[in-house]
Amino acid sequence: MQRSALNFMYSDPVQKEYSRLAERYDSRWSFYVNATIGETLNRLEINPGERILDLGCGTGALIQRLLQMAPEIQVFGIDPCAEMLEIAKQKLSKSVDLNLGSADNLPFPSNYFDVVVSTSAFHFFRDPSQAIQEAKRVLKPNGRLVITDWCDDYLTCKVCDFFLRCFNRAHFRTYGVAEFQTMMQDEGFQRVAIERYKINWFWGMMTAKAVKETSAK
Ligand SMILES: C[S@@+](CC[C@H](N)C(=O)[O-])C[C@H]1O[C@@H](n2cnc3c(N)ncnc32)[C@H](O)[C@@H]1O
Repeated sequence: MQRSALNFMYSDPVQKEYSRLAERYDSRWSFYVNATIGETLNRLEINPGERILDLGCGTGALIQRLLQMAPEIQVFGIDPCAEMLEIAKQKLSKSVDLNLGSADNLPFPSNYFDVVVSTSAFHFFRDPSQAIQEAKRVLKPNGRLVITDWCDDYLTCKVCDFFLRCFNRAHFRTYGVAEFQTMMQDEGFQRVAIERYKINWFWGMMTAKAVKETSAK
């Protein structure tokens, strides 16, 4: 079926938006994606043999960089947009396990991953608490959660969030450091540490790191 026909069929605003953007995503957002992924990798520790899940993996840019850094890791991705996953499949080796689905209902067993990571996807999640709970469920004890997203402590991002909430149905909402910290702690994550930074004059980001405590379910 034609891509345009598929786009017309989708009722979910995220699928509609990203099925339309998929083919142009990497070239259109290359500066932003490289910068946000670079900042995330600078804050992410990975060890040989670890199993890693990318929430909202999109076209697989983060997974590709992770595998360049540490080829011996096992990587999984999940995204609700088939067209984004199709681009990811074209760039990644068959050993990467790409799944169609949502961060708030993960098709993985409990205590399965060493690391759950996500870049620039959290502001789309309709049920952010459920997504954090799901990340906690699939992480092994002592597993690490690392999330990079827009930070609305920065005025430019606050304004962007306001406009997107009014005019873009795919967008859900952004968070500031304090609110994000409380949300992660309320869902039972320990050692929550959030850094905020700018990648240029416009984009204000944050990377949150947290650990699933040994006794947590
Ligand atoms: C801005 S793109 C980011 C893609 C990739 N993480 C990157 O850094 O280039 C946002 C992605 O989040 C995905 N997404 C939106 N809602 C989601 C959800 N509930 N669960 C998982 N992924 C979701 C979209 O389909 C899209 O591929």
